[in-house]
Amino acid sequence: MDIRRALTPAELSAAESLFDGPARQEWSERFLTAPGHLMLIAYVDGVPAGMVSGIEMNHPDKGTEMCLYELSVDEGYRRRGIGRALTLALADEAKERGCYGMWVGVDTDNEAALATYDAAGARDEGVFSMRGWPLSQQP
Ligand SMILES: CC(C)(COP(=O)(O)OP(=O)(O)OC[C@H]1O[C@@H](n2cnc3c(N)ncnc32)[C@H](O)[C@@H]1OP(=O)(O)O)[C@@H](O)C(=O)NCCC(=O)NCCS
Repeated sequence: MDIRRALTPAELSAAESLFDGPARQEWSERFLTAPGHLMLIAYVDGVPAGMVSGIEMNHPDKGTEMCLYELSVDEGYRRRGIGRALTLALADEAKERGCYGMWVGVDTDNEAALATYDAAGARDEGVFSMRGWPLSQQP
């Protein structure tokens, strides 16, 4: 397995089966050029098998932390350590960028994700409730 940072819309497009929906050119370009945004893709024999995305969050009294935004491994490649490896790779990148920590929100019944983050050294930092404001037709 080879983990590489995606640098072009074509790389995102080639990995779009790992996303919830198709990658749009405009959104891909925006993602790739936005400061503090990154996606790491795991390739097995050249095939995109998993991805993790991260976004740096800044605050005047806190410094910078990494939010693990999305983690996904293709069903055919699960339980081989790819999810854990991607999570650790993002944590390493966050350390290199000077982040003081990394966090992720997980559905409390997502056993695979919880086991993966535990295996990658995450601490349980408690349960929280989420609220949202839909502002357009987009998800
Ligand atoms: C969560 C997900 C990324 C895990 O990827 P993966 O490559 O299968 O995970 P790994 O093989 O690296 O497993 C890491 C650890 O979690 C455990 N694990 C993985 N899937 C599990 C499952 N379904 N049930 C219980 N434990 C599981 C593994 O046994 C391993 O533990 P170990 O290191 O002690 O052996 C994958 O299941 C997935 O893409 N799920 C759908 C998307 C999703 O839920 N993403 C997370 C959103 S927060």
